[in-house]
Amino acid sequence: MSWSEGRLVEVRRRLHRHPELSTQERETAAFIAAELRAMGLEPREGLDGAPTGVVAVIEGGQEGPTLAWRADTDALPIEEETGAQYASCNPGVMHACGHDVHTTVGLGIAAALVEARGSLRGRVKVIFQPAEEGAPGSGLAGAEAMVAGGVLEGPAVEGIFALHCMPSLPVGRIGYSLGPVWAGSDAWRLTVRGRQTHGAYPQEGIDPIYVAAQIVVALQGIPGRVIDAREACVVSVGRIEAGEAFNVIPAEARMIGLVRTLDEGVRVRALEALGRLIEGICAAHGAQAELTTSQGARAVINDPALVGRALGALRAEVGADRVEVSPPQMGAEDFASFSRRVPGAYFMLGVGNRERGIVHPIHSPRFDVDEACLPLAVRAFTRALLEVSGGWPAVGG
Ligand code: NI
Repeated sequence: MSWSEGRLVEVRRRLHRHPELSTQERETAAFIAAELRAMGLEPREGLDGAPTGVVAVIEGGQEGPTLAWRADTDALPIEEETGAQYASCNPGVMHACGHDVHTTVGLGIAAALVEARGSLRGRVKVIFQPAEEGAPGSGLAGAEAMVAGGVLEGPAVEGIFALHCMPSLPVGRIGYSLGPVWAGSDAWRLTVRGRQTHGAYPQEGIDPIYVAAQIVVALQGIPGRVIDAREACVVSVGRIEAGEAFNVIPAEARMIGLVRTLDEGVRVRALEALGRLIEGICAAHGAQAELTTSQGARAVINDPALVGRALGALRAEVGADRVEVSPPQMGAEDFASFSRRVPGAYFMLGVGNRERGIVHPIHSPRFDVDEACLPLAVRAFTRALLEVSGGWPAVGG
């Protein structure tokens, strides 16, 4: 049976009280599986590399495509400061990215689809993905691990949907993009090797701090002077460390940072420029650079046809003037592990409410949502899935 607004709020608050970090979502996974079983579904718990993932398939009453809905389930290492009565019971852990809402909406959609089975063509896989925020140490974030575990196969998914809470979007609204949604993320790590000397005699050594400072400044020339002003690119330094004493120039300086882009060509040019600037600046001062870069989440790029097929249903449910184009985010999310393999449609869910003070951004210790977003999202996206299932062309169509 479809979930009432009260039931959705209750489930969201339960999840919010009991947040779990990436790869540790055991209680969350058990709760999700139990709820799916109560709907009469047969959830599969655990996939290779993603033991806390849960997947269930809702079979429609008629022939049709295999669509998927993905919700992420993990929380963040943040101490909650909302003061809400449903605040986190786990010290230092908080659903500060709204994955409690995503999970609740995923369950609500599953319940609604079970009830609407007769008018569903084909089937919908509901995917509850752990470790979206990253799986420390394993190097494999949740989405990639679930794909490796075969979540897009048997039966093969032909289109996949997801959403994210967006506090800057007022509750009642849904945002969409016909192209980029989230940035691709690259991390970099640099050691500048100089030559240690007395702080009073810098000419006797090679000062890695002085060189690192020039690198910090020069890197802003990548978005400013290397990349076309019409293309999105961010380069940031997240940590810089060097030295011990006020009168010693150390042997080395270490830095870490990120590059975020919305386009693969821009990404390649930005990373080339990063390497070139660092090598050049170090060489100019006789220092040595040890630079490593590692690719994280790829950019999430929506399939415009799949988004287009969902828009009619969304507009019909929430009002045409409340479904609006949403600018791409320079944040990153691992949904591209799915959407670069099968067509993807990722939406932004309005959860903000200025009058009620619900304005804090995701990953803030004061992040919260207007829970009126829950029934709206379930209604709108259940209808979108039903409509897309009826009109989506066969694979390759
Ligand atoms: Ni998130």
